[in-house]
Amino acid sequence: MTKLDLIVADLRPLTARISEFTLQAADGGALPDWEAGAHIRVDVDGGDRAYSLIRFAPREDGAYRIAVQREDDGAGGSRFMHGLKEGDRIKAAPPKCDFPVAPGEAAVLLAGGIGITPMISMAAELKAAGVPFDLHYAGRSRGEMGFVDDLANRFGDALRVHCDDDESALDLDAVIGALGERHLYICGPRGMIDAARGKAEAAGVPGARVHVELFDNASAAAGGDRAFEVEIASSGEVFTIPPGRSIIEVLEESGMDLIHDCQRGDCGICQTEVISGEPDHRDVVLSEAERAEGKVMQICVSRAKSARLVLDL
Ligand code: FES
Repeated sequence: MTKLDLIVADLRPLTARISEFTLQAADGGALPDWEAGAHIRVDVDGGDRAYSLIRFAPREDGAYRIAVQREDDGAGGSRFMHGLKEGDRIKAAPPKCDFPVAPGEAAVLLAGGIGITPMISMAAELKAAGVPFDLHYAGRSRGEMGFVDDLANRFGDALRVHCDDDESALDLDAVIGALGERHLYICGPRGMIDAARGKAEAAGVPGARVHVELFDNASAAAGGDRAFEVEIASSGEVFTIPPGRSIIEVLEESGMDLIHDCQRGDCGICQTEVISGEPDHRDVVLSEAERAEGKVMQICVSRAKSARLVLDL
């Protein structure tokens, strides 16, 4: 895949920790178009990071806009981005959309923190198409939330802002209770996605109407992770997965060719059947029922509660 050469054309601080970047083609040419909900993967020190593309109206202009929240204890991608200056050049993979909005279907968009970014273009698309939607935007406090005024100007009464530190705090039961037949889109940290999905599932909302994208710089790793074994059913080979490494990383290192994409547990591409053993699910793809069943797992992030997993690979 040919990467895009981009130049930081403009930098705008939105809050103490969030900055908006306007990116143009370094050669001044046109950039590939994209669908609402799309992201680009930007090369940063030691890897790449996905950032959702932002536009407040369809076909606003040709530049790409992203917003990045600085995570001082993160893996370093956001620090790299916040070290950029106007005129700096970066490389990124072309836009890709794993979080599209269902055309013509009424929607509730639920964003937590910097998870607002994909929701902006999705709301803009719904508004332009005349499709009803509510946009719930939750954060710790108003001062830590980017785009609030821009969103209010653009989306008016469709926007509901929820701050943890006042009486507007997000009431998930109320949001799910008012969902009706509408689609639910959730983007934010893992805890919020798990809570909203759990409540939607308990309320009988069909899984096909719930769409999630994880926006969390915190790793799926948890303190106290232990090593476990993975047995490959087709070959009988056994691998040890140490703390801090994923099943995919270890198996690929041994030469296995595995299909994966997001590597953070929200796309479902790496889903693998579990023949025996008990997975420790760390994804946001599976429903509570699927987790309890334990028959499949996302091997990019999930681990094991049992000493060994036998996987259908
Ligand atoms: S690669 Fe996306 S869920 Fe595993």
